Amino acid sequence: MEDLGAESKFTKFPAVVHLGDWSFFLVQSKGRYKLFSNICPHAGSEVVDWGTTFMCPSHGWRFEQDGGECINGPIARMMAYEVTARNGHLFADVPLEEFA
Ligand code: FES
Repeated sequence: MEDLGAESKFTKFPAVVHLGDWSFFLVQSKGRYKLFSNICPHAGSEVVDWGTTFMCPSHGWRFEQDGGECINGPIARMMAYEVTARNGHLFADVPLEEFA
């Protein structure tokens, strides 16, 4: 489990979170947190926050921010990881060793 820090420090969503050399988006939806990898599921470019969606600048795929599903391309989804709140901190179940 990766400690994302104090829950209280996250006041705007999506929030960019850095773990090791990798970047993620923390989102909050329906009272639950979720962490999305910013690595595009198409060809590995970096997905950016595009207002109401996420967007990959390489080929324009866009992803909805609740579940990370692609909304303008083939069936695809951003990698998502569960986040739990415990003792005022957020913890994400991210297998960072698989990102190398
Ligand atoms: S690499 Fe992201 S849309 Fe192609």
